[in-house]
Amino acid sequence: MNKIKSILIVSLGITIAGLVSCDSGNIRRTPGHIYAPDMTYSRAYDAYTSNPNFADSMTSRPPVAGAIARGHVLPDHLKEGDTMAYKTFTTAVRFSEDDLKEGHRLFNIYCGICHGTNLDGQGPLFASGKFASMPANFKDAKYLHMSVGQMYAAAKYGKNMMGSYAAQLDAQQRWMVIAYIKKTQSENGGDPFTLGEATVKADSAKGAMIAKVGK
Ligand code: HEC
Repeated sequence: MNKIKSILIVSLGITIAGLVSCDSGNIRRTPGHIYAPDMTYSRAYDAYTSNPNFADSMTSRPPVAGAIARGHVLPDHLKEGDTMAYKTFTTAVRFSEDDLKEGHRLFNIYCGICHGTNLDGQGPLFASGKFASMPANFKDAKYLHMSVGQMYAAAKYGKNMMGSYAAQLDAQQRWMVIAYIKKTQSENGGDPFTLGEATVKADSAKGAMIAKVGK
């Protein structure tokens, strides 16, 4: 009995001692130990902290001017309104069946409302009379032979009543949409389709590969 009593008293004592040692009254008098201070307190400047090394004191720097993100195509250097340049402008990229499918999808989202999902210029916005200006009928002789550069410029800068789609489609996506239009035109009396992967020539294959890195 005595043995049990003393065991109880000792364990009670240990518990109280434990509780007391935990309660420091919310005031830390010692800094405690940090296992790896270099990891706890970064020596590098954190993203949003002020940085004395730069005049504007910002730690997060914008990309160097002219830098191209991985997977993005090179800048096109087209100038808005330079219609002579539009005519000869083209791309070295060649488009796979998947790219054409994606072009079709994007066309239906962004262009079909006016140009019609079967490319006849009779999209619901125009056909319903809500949009007065006739969108290009891509199956019409006037557009069947239009150069890819002119189409690219229309998607990038807009044309008369048609607005620019530069903010909705990046360069690669614009080309996918145009490849899809050109492919469909080639099956409807247009010129032979030259932007397909199967039509790639040995010398341009390398350029196309570089432009497609990381895609
Ligand atoms: C709001 C309606 C509308 C939408 C959406 C639209 N277009 Fe158009 N588009 C037009 C009209 C209208 C014209 C005729 C412009 C003219 O010649 O006056 C046109 C003309 C064009 C032309 C011929 C340009 C030229 O130089 O004659 C191309 C190519 C074209 N659009 C491509 C596209 C593509 C690609 C998209 C989708 C990214 C698109 N359009 C979305 C209304 C639209």
